[in-house]
Amino acid sequence: MTKLLIDCDPGIDDALALALAAGSPSLEIVGITTVGGNVDLSLTTANALALREFLDLGEVPVVAGSPGALLRHDVRATTVHGSSGLGDAVLPPATRPAEDGHAVDFIIETLRAAPGEITLVAIGPLTNIALAVRKEPRVVEWARDFVIMGGSYTRGNTNPAAEFNMLADPEAAAIVFEAGWSVKMLGLDVTLTALVTSDVLERMRPLGRLSDLLVPAATSYGVVTAEGGPAIHDACAVAYVLDASLFTCVPAVVRVETAGRYTSGMTVTDFKAADRGANALVATSLDVKRFWDVVLDAYTRLAAR
Ligand code: BDR
Ligand code: CA
Repeated sequence: MTKLLIDCDPGIDDALALALAAGSPSLEIVGITTVGGNVDLSLTTANALALREFLDLGEVPVVAGSPGALLRHDVRATTVHGSSGLGDAVLPPATRPAEDGHAVDFIIETLRAAPGEITLVAIGPLTNIALAVRKEPRVVEWARDFVIMGGSYTRGNTNPAAEFNMLADPEAAAIVFEAGWSVKMLGLDVTLTALVTSDVLERMRPLGRLSDLLVPAATSYGVVTAEGGPAIHDACAVAYVLDASLFTCVPAVVRVETAGRYTSGMTVTDFKAADRGANALVATSLDVKRFWDVVLDAYTRLAAR
C-alpha cells in the first residue's frame, strides 16, 4: 500500500486524478491539500471537499493552502476548466468543511509523522510545496517520493514556453526543483498523449454514478488536442505512483526560468548534464494503452463500490 498526500487545484483533471487514486486498492490517500490555480482557492477547496464525499474518501483530511503565487499576479484557467473548476460536472455540495489549519503546516506535519512512508503528489501550482520546503527543509528527506504534473522539455501549453502549473508560480517551481530531492516530472511531453478519445469516453459512460463526474467533466474540458480528446494531465502523476513502468523516464537537470521576458515558467531541461547531478527524473513516453487500462480498471472498481 502506498500512502499519498495530494496537493491539487481541482480542476477537471485533478478530479479525475483523485478518482484514480480513490479507485486504486494499492493506494491510500492520507490527505488532500488545495492551492489557488485553475480557479480561486475557495473553489479548488470547495471542489476538493465535494470530491471527498462524492468519491467516498471518508475521513481523509482536506486542508486549504495558498490562495496565490509567491510573487506574481494570479493566472487562472477558467477557459479550460469552466468557472466552477469542474466544467459541466455538478457534484452535490460538501456537507463537511475543510479541516482547520494551513496546507503548508499539514504537509510538514504529515510527512514528519511518517518519514519515508508518504509519497507527495503535486498536481497544481507549486506554491504550497515551495513554502513547505522553505519552512521545514527536512520534508525533502521525509517524503518517500515527490511526483508532479508540470513542466515539459519540449513546449508550453499556457504560452509557447511554459506549462500552466509552472507559469502560475515560477518562483515556487524554482524553489521546489532546487530543494535537493529527485522530482519525478510528468510533463506535457507525456500528459498530452493521455487523451480522452471517443473510445475512452465510451468506456466511461457505463460507470454508473461515477460517470456523472467523468463524462460531463471530460466532455466540457476546454482543450481538445488535434489528436482528439482532452488530456487528463494530472492522472498521469497518480498513474506514475501506481505503476512507474507505464512511463519511460530519463534523469535530467531541470531549472525553472523566472527571469525570461517570454519564457517565465519554462522548465529548462538538460539531459546531458544528468551525470553531474540530476535533480529530476523526467518522463519521456507513456504506454497509452496500458495507462487507460489501469485508469479505467480503477474507475470500474470505484463505480462498483
Ligand atoms: C495542468 O494545468 C492545469 O490546468 C491542469 O489541472 C494540470 O494540472 C496542465 O498543464
Ligand atoms: Ca491541476
